[in-house]
Amino acid sequence: MTDPKIIVAIDSSNQEQALNIIDQLDSELCMIKIGSVNFNSLGNLCINKAFEKGFKIFLDLKLHDIPNTVKESILGLKHYPISMLTIHTSGGLDMMRAAVEGVEGTNIKIFGVTALTSLSDSDSERIFRRDIRSQVNSLLDLAEEGGIDGVVCSPQELELLSKRKSLLSITPGIRLKNLQDDQKRVMTPKEAVELGADYIVVGRPITSSENISKSLNEIYLSIQ
Ligand code: C5P
Repeated sequence: MTDPKIIVAIDSSNQEQALNIIDQLDSELCMIKIGSVNFNSLGNLCINKAFEKGFKIFLDLKLHDIPNTVKESILGLKHYPISMLTIHTSGGLDMMRAAVEGVEGTNIKIFGVTALTSLSDSDSERIFRRDIRSQVNSLLDLAEEGGIDGVVCSPQELELLSKRKSLLSITPGIRLKNLQDDQKRVMTPKEAVELGADYIVVGRPITSSENISKSLNEIYLSIQ
């Protein structure tokens, strides 16, 4: 069976609230993303609960450190029932290779964050002294060379990925309408999937909605 394309981000540090969101989701329609907000306060609790309920899990801790530290961190995480985890591609080639070594013997896929979807072009100019596209493009070169499974990028950079067959894509920054929040490089679920996104990450548009299961269903139907 292929993985669901939708990954719902459980960005809550409150156990009751996080478990309540998981309870309203359907493992046939989505995977679950556990990031630092949840993991740093609740540890592996939600990973185990979601796994018991049949969900595939994306552990999004965005590791960014020297190669040895990243590999050792992954050796400590690889026993969790997770399908994917994230590092930062800007950690460099050796760090990506160390991450790949870290998951050896498992089916866990390594995804590399390129440029956060909350960054605008002017943020990118200030941080990297070049626009987002050039920044992402050079990180894609590195990701391919480093042998990781895929990257996390905004839907606006999916076109750059279409020439790179070895890399899968995960795209956050998904919005049904413009919410004027911290996400800047956004698109609708349908647009992102039409542009070739292998997975889309949706957080607040589902988890902050009045009817979580209805919102998930609507997004699921919109990309069929
Ligand atoms: O609530 P929202 O839909 O903005 O959630 C997006 C999720 O994707 C958050 O958990 C955020 O940490 C994550 N993410 C992102 N941009 C990246 C990588 C991950 O927004 N480049």
